[in-house]
Amino acid sequence: MKARKIKAGIYWVGAVDWDRRMFDDLIPLPDGTSYNAYLIQGSEKTALIDTVEPEMSHILFSRLNQLGLERIDYVIANHAEQDHSGTLPQILAQHPQAQVICTPKCKTMLLDLGLAPEGRILTVDDGATLSLGDRTLEFIHAPWVHWPETMLTYLQEDKILFPCDFFGSHLATTDLYVTDEGLGYEAAKRYYAEIMMPFRRIIQKNLKKVQEYEISLIAPSHGPIYDRPDFILDAYHDWVYSEPKNIVVLPYISMHGSTREMVEHLVDALIENGVTVKLFNLAVTDIGELAISLVDAATIVIGSPTVLTGAHPNVVYAAYLANALRPKTKFVSIVGSYGWGGKMVQQLAGLIPNLKVEIIDPVVIKGRPKAEDFESLDKLASSIAEKHKGLE
Ligand code: FEO
Repeated sequence: MKARKIKAGIYWVGAVDWDRRMFDDLIPLPDGTSYNAYLIQGSEKTALIDTVEPEMSHILFSRLNQLGLERIDYVIANHAEQDHSGTLPQILAQHPQAQVICTPKCKTMLLDLGLAPEGRILTVDDGATLSLGDRTLEFIHAPWVHWPETMLTYLQEDKILFPCDFFGSHLATTDLYVTDEGLGYEAAKRYYAEIMMPFRRIIQKNLKKVQEYEISLIAPSHGPIYDRPDFILDAYHDWVYSEPKNIVVLPYISMHGSTREMVEHLVDALIENGVTVKLFNLAVTDIGELAISLVDAATIVIGSPTVLTGAHPNVVYAAYLANALRPKTKFVSIVGSYGWGGKMVQQLAGLIPNLKVEIIDPVVIKGRPKAEDFESLDKLASSIAEKHKGLE
């Protein structure tokens, strides 16, 4: 397989994983992904930035061999996670002179994961540089984007930022660059929602740090390269800084139809009140789509029947996930039905301590909804619309 030239002496040597459908057995990948590695040739030294998922190491080696590469001097490990550092052992075996460059925290993690021996690792401080001759790499520490050890690498002369997972997208494509910005935006937003959103405050700081650099290309470790850096920088700026929007995210499940009747009525009432609703039936939904919708929503309304005194397990999972992802959401409410009793509201409220939200009075009823229950749902819709006043 051939390396793909970005410019003279700079190549993409990664692997596209068209078939992968889950990451960490947690995150759905409807569009596959890629593991991007980059080769940088200076007049004196050669560096490889990141490697690939070990299962695809043969593709990385095939591309490196096609270049007739004799020597790698440095392997830049921006991030210890195995989809980027997992092929380090084979690279170090094939290039016995190569040294791994990483942050001190990353060194510890590489040792813990058995990915490199101590004697082969050189740690670098924030802002440190490494000369390849006529090219210079600068290392920018970016802890918690999204692990504690991560760093970004900036190629000074060519003004290329290699930010590893930061700005990445799970998108398998033959395009080296983002050509369809609609598709690129959706894939990057899904990636942000699932991976980066829990670290939104830290992302804000790192975004500021990155914006101090003059950047011609952003070349992440997943998905296509951004040759219009402002496209992804502006998107991130919106996701981490903007006020939430006039949107209700409504994940629900219904066992015998009562909760569905309530949800359908509430959706209509919210629409009447000028509120956009994103509805997710948790029996069939792609949890990634739900995560994307949480990026912008001002309110989450959870809809659940009562199962063995608590919420339906799928709803518990969705609430747990929303809590872990820490979206900008400001308000939460709960709607649903029970047969003979239960503590669903207390249970769900207890599952979302990370969400700094105001709880709007839930509407939880006995059996099928009746006229007064529909009135309560109308009031809930009006109350949400009132709280959303002023939001876009
Ligand atoms: Fe793509 Fe955090 O690994």
